[in-house]
Amino acid sequence: MIDLRSDTVTRPTPEMRRAMADADVGDDVFGEDPTVRRLEEETAALLGMEAALYVPSGHMSNQIAVYLGAGSGDEVWTHELFHVVANEQGGTSVLARVLPRTFDAPDGVPAQGLLERWAAGTDDVHRARPALICLENTFTGRVVPLAEQRRVADFAHAHGMRAHLDGARLWNAAVALGVPPAEVAAGMDTVSVCFSKGLGAPVGSALAGDAATIARARRARKLLGGGMRQAGIIAAGALYALRHHVDRLADDHARAARLAAAVDALPGLAAEARTNMVIVTAPEGRAADLAAALRANGVGCTALGPERLRLVVHLGVSDADVDDAAARTAKAAAAL
Ligand SMILES: Cc1ncc(COP(=O)(O)O)c(C=O)c1O
Repeated sequence: MIDLRSDTVTRPTPEMRRAMADADVGDDVFGEDPTVRRLEEETAALLGMEAALYVPSGHMSNQIAVYLGAGSGDEVWTHELFHVVANEQGGTSVLARVLPRTFDAPDGVPAQGLLERWAAGTDDVHRARPALICLENTFTGRVVPLAEQRRVADFAHAHGMRAHLDGARLWNAAVALGVPPAEVAAGMDTVSVCFSKGLGAPVGSALAGDAATIARARRARKLLGGGMRQAGIIAAGALYALRHHVDRLADDHARAARLAAAVDALPGLAAEARTNMVIVTAPEGRAADLAAALRANGVGCTALGPERLRLVVHLGVSDADVDDAAARTAKAAAAL
């Protein structure tokens, strides 16, 4: 099977495995794992933040950010499809006990008018206190323009709120825009990044922010049972990925563009490449049928709704795989 379900399915490369086998380790709950420390320092530096914390998953990173960024009963504003509210089991209501207030916007960014409406009348005794705005970049593979992201962060700060960026694929955004990762993180109070997606590491994410916030995040990670001991073994994979696999994301983007062009040329299908994701639109309501036909032809994909599905290009996908996937998609489409 050509597995295009997600960029989370990658396996560590031989060089990455060697770095993991050779890693210096210590007890990270005691702050004594040199590899974890190095990963945290290099991540923070790349993001232009004071500090970063290695955590087992992007899910935990987002949940800690909400837990620290808003108090019990506070409003947290997010797109209805952002991972933090749509794919984390309602964790923000269980752990931080906040009130998610969700918007819809095709590009993932709330309009200025909506922000102003929601910020009005917050001294009303009936209202929950707005505390945090969440953004996601990339958002279903789409790069969120940095000026738009900045507008929302500035609005949050002007209204006494904080801003969190789920940058699970921030590296893809930075490469697509041709800017350093710190530019994508600029203006945010906390940023979550993943090593286990496009970068191809086996485990882990990081939450970055100012030193005081990350010190609190370290306590929150322990509260959630996320303190890890000789975590340098897995951090070494993440560190290898951070040092060697960021620039190569441009190859994934180019392959996604080539696959999208081939699929878009098929009768009845439309496709567009967004960074490393190909978003395919099937004939009305047929995305599930197309997904099943793709699987039957050996192409793993993920349905996004009744009309759309995604094919994700990653470290484990070669030029030949792209050609093969395009040919198999043509067969699947013909069988619809
Ligand atoms: C945008 C986004 N945020 C967060 C996550 C969570 O990451 P993890 O799978 O490491 O928990 C994902 C996972 O796919 C994601 O796509």
